[in-house]
Amino acid sequence: MYAERVLSGMRPSGRLHLGHHHGVLKNWVKLQEEFPCFFFVADWHALTTHYDSPEVIADNVWTMLVDWLAAGVDPAQATLFIQSRVPEHAELHLLLSMMTPLGWLERVPGWKEQQERGEGAELSTYGFLGYPLLQSADILIYRADKVPVGEDQVPHVEITRELARRFNHLYGREPGFEDKAREAVRKLGAKRARLYHDLRTRFQQDGDDEALEQAKALLDETQNLSLGDRERLYGYLEGGGKMILVEPEALLAPVSRMPGLDGQKMSKAYGNTINLREDADSVTRKVRTMQTDPARMRRTDPGEPERCPVWQLHMIYSNEDTLAWAQRGCRSASIGCLECKQPVLEAILEEQEGLHERAQPYLDDPGLVRSIVADGCERARKLAQETMRDVREAMGLDYG
Ligand code: TRP
Ligand code: SF4
Repeated sequence: MYAERVLSGMRPSGRLHLGHHHGVLKNWVKLQEEFPCFFFVADWHALTTHYDSPEVIADNVWTMLVDWLAAGVDPAQATLFIQSRVPEHAELHLLLSMMTPLGWLERVPGWKEQQERGEGAELSTYGFLGYPLLQSADILIYRADKVPVGEDQVPHVEITRELARRFNHLYGREPGFEDKAREAVRKLGAKRARLYHDLRTRFQQDGDDEALEQAKALLDETQNLSLGDRERLYGYLEGGGKMILVEPEALLAPVSRMPGLDGQKMSKAYGNTINLREDADSVTRKVRTMQTDPARMRRTDPGEPERCPVWQLHMIYSNEDTLAWAQRGCRSASIGCLECKQPVLEAILEEQEGLHERAQPYLDDPGLVRSIVADGCERARKLAQETMRDVREAMGLDYG
């Protein structure tokens, strides 16, 4: 009923590293070729946790946008924007808050763990509790059906689905919906009506998904239905009324565990990162001083790649031949560790070169990024305003 649309956001929390590149941005770059994509900087979300140091946000916003562009996110294909410049997100957040049970928010892992750890009052704020609700508004306002996120964000997409369902249920009812739906059932003819009724009951009472599918198939093959009746019968099946907000689905990125310099997952918190745009000397130094198999004390000791963080990087960056060469060379002590690191280092430097090259025009002319974002905000805002018109009307706020 609504067009396919991808939406995702990132908090401006510092320089991005190669983990973001391989884990998130490459996926965005692929998606932008397949679907209309909306990618935004979640600056309000940054404030939910950093309300006491707002000055760091501005810097991080622009640097992060350059990182996105460097990774190949293409403003000619995707819409790039900043959350706080589409203030409709805040209005939807407010309106959704009216119908959001407190318990739904208190159960979300981020809040629950923070409360259980009893970590002082700093994050016992209304804003932090509402973090997932703001995220729901981000998604629902674009009627996005696909939300690429990491595993940790799945509960947020789940609560978004529940909110969309609740919203449609509460406000998606046209006057007399039930009667109109029942009348439409009658029009199916006695036999089909009975079947529809049975399948609907099986789905609504027992949660039988197969019954739901069968009922939908039944509607699909029924030919003499008006469009309005068909939509009513679809809505009536699932218990809702008209669909105003779209239930999104989480798109889990293909698993990529980018190893850091120490073999643990790459993360700023572990201090084991290579930035997305780091200078060549620094990259070289970091790779050359990387830990290797601790059992390989001397050059003449054979080593075991499975115990070595460099091997993890090989698996990301090297082809079959190089992998075989490194494995054999390590186990037979016929290559030294510096020699083994060389192809990895070269691959990273080559990747960095591409990243630097794509970033350069934006560093030379920061106005370019500003204007990309201004365009993106305008495009995003049009859609957001359309949704808000429907939402206000559904919630009875369009009175004269
Ligand atoms: N919470 C997300 C994160 O920390 C960022 C985010 C905010 C987001 N709003 C969103 C992601 C909407 C996807 C969709 O990564
Ligand atoms: Fe690691 Fe390569 Fe040294 Fe083996 S030779 S320990 S894989 S760096």
